[in-house]
Amino acid sequence: MDKSVLITGANRGLGFALVETFVNNGYIVYALIRSEDSRQALEKVGAQVLIGDVSTNEVITSIETAHIQSLDIIINNAGVAGSGEQTLDYSPDVLSKTLETNVVGSFRVIKALASRLKQDGLIINVSSRFGSFQFTKENTHRHCTSHYKISKAALNMLTLSLHLEYKDKFKTVAIHPGEIMTSMKSGDAQLSPEKAAANIFDCLDIFESGRLYSTTTKQEMNW
Ligand SMILES: NC(=O)c1ccc[n+]([C@@H]2O[C@H](COP(=O)([O-])OP(=O)(O)OC[C@H]3O[C@@H](n4cnc5c(N)ncnc54)[C@H](OP(=O)(O)O)[C@@H]3O)[C@@H](O)[C@H]2O)c1
Repeated sequence: MDKSVLITGANRGLGFALVETFVNNGYIVYALIRSEDSRQALEKVGAQVLIGDVSTNEVITSIETAHIQSLDIIINNAGVAGSGEQTLDYSPDVLSKTLETNVVGSFRVIKALASRLKQDGLIINVSSRFGSFQFTKENTHRHCTSHYKISKAALNMLTLSLHLEYKDKFKTVAIHPGEIMTSMKSGDAQLSPEKAAANIFDCLDIFESGRLYSTTTKQEMNW
């Protein structure tokens, strides 16, 4: 039987490259995007398009009413990084908005789809090295907004919580996908989205639930 995957933030950057990678590897791919603009490009690649904004509860209904029977993998890739102000210079709304997409958005997608995940299916939460307390403590010279770091640390804890409560049903991992040359790129970005997506695909067999991985090195990272 064909394997299937749902990918959020599928219209550009890493998400679009993931769609191409999974389609090329024979998967049925459901691509979640928030505007109709990219429907044609995604359908041309071979994906089935779902419309929904992960920062709203309506996305749950959009996903629940889509014709998805069962799924092997969910990839929570949609994310925002926001502007570069220091912590006490941004408004509480900035933090709320980042959490709403990066954390609650991933939670909404999982909630809408968990019952359709196959036994031992896989949830991949696309986190960041900046969500790791250890990485952040040891790399103070690397610039990243604190609202982004806070959101990815929370996404990591969502990952661990799901693992602890549901490990008998499905696997849940968080990943740092590398420093990718997308609109969200950091100063040291050197990976193409296509290579980053291929790295993630290559890790499918090594993922163990409840862990954070660098999919570039294919090694576990400390939380
Ligand atoms: N680039 C890097 O170096 C890097 C490093 C570590 C982790 N990551 C993570 O990798 C993931 C992909 O990032 P990227 O580099 O590909 O960034 P990107 O090019 O900025 O793409 C972000 C994607 O998320 C979607 N998105 C944002 N808010 C959304 C919402 N409310 N509902 C639905 N979709 C939404 C965007 O859709 P729109 O076009 O509609 O805005 C876009 O498709 C993110 O989670 C990011 O944190 C990236």
